[in-house]
Amino acid sequence: MKKVTVNTLREMKARGEPIGVLTCYDATFARLLEAAGVEVILVGDSLGNVIQGHRTTLPVTVDHVVYHLQAVGRGLSRAHLVGDLPFMSYQASVDEAVANAGRLVKEGGAEAVKLEGGVEYAEVIRRIVRAGIPVMGHIGLLPQAVHRMGGYVVQGRSEEQAKKLLEDALALEEAGCYALVLEGIPGELAAEITRRLSIPTIGIGAGSACDGQVLVVYDLLGLDPGFAPKFVKRYLNLHEDVVHAVSTYMREVKERKFPAEEHTFGAKRSEAGAVGGLYGGTPGKSS
Ligand code: KIV
Repeated sequence: MKKVTVNTLREMKARGEPIGVLTCYDATFARLLEAAGVEVILVGDSLGNVIQGHRTTLPVTVDHVVYHLQAVGRGLSRAHLVGDLPFMSYQASVDEAVANAGRLVKEGGAEAVKLEGGVEYAEVIRRIVRAGIPVMGHIGLLPQAVHRMGGYVVQGRSEEQAKKLLEDALALEEAGCYALVLEGIPGELAAEITRRLSIPTIGIGAGSACDGQVLVVYDLLGLDPGFAPKFVKRYLNLHEDVVHAVSTYMREVKERKFPAEEHTFGAKRSEAGAVGGLYGGTPGKSS
């Protein structure tokens, strides 16, 4: 399988092939997503919600994103790896933005960075791109601006907002973005932006006309039964399956049914070889 790069994504848009993007936060899931053919993996600052348990993405730091990028990177060989610039890692100054984007690439192994915001970030984007780092833009519903938006509210419904979003999209393409996330905007507006741009648009809650789609992986797997926004389709109800499996384990532990004979080592040295499995050390894997 060929490595996915920024060129691959441009070519996919040109031939009208939809791009599949998912978030990911660890090596085990990275291997699963790559096995399923996901083209782009985003270590999103949504890790603040789904990994750290915060109500917003605001507490996430560059160190957190670097840590998860490193873990995800160990599970990937083909997919294009994008790291999210977290809140206040690029807003205060252009120099800080370039330095933090550099950390995601140099320390985390990201192949591109993503940042939220419109034309006001054009200069930041230009400077990061000039440093050799591809930038994925992100407009519409901006989770890092949750307090300014007054909640997680669909954007671009008024004519004025829609005009501003189209202008932002064009400005970000002009500033050098290689792709653009459109989050929480009406499908018609996303379709118009997608038509007007030569770079791929990646939608989340933005309808089917985008050049690609992104979801938080735990949402499509149905890990949180309390989170069911309109834009998420659950392909599994993993919450139920996990609770069922763990309850069964608990019952078997209490009833001394687990471990059974086949999970137990005998005294004879000849009988058991290596323990086997990850925790006993898998040959060829780095520690
Ligand atoms: O942080 C994130 O996971 C994201 C995607 C949902 C686009 O920004």
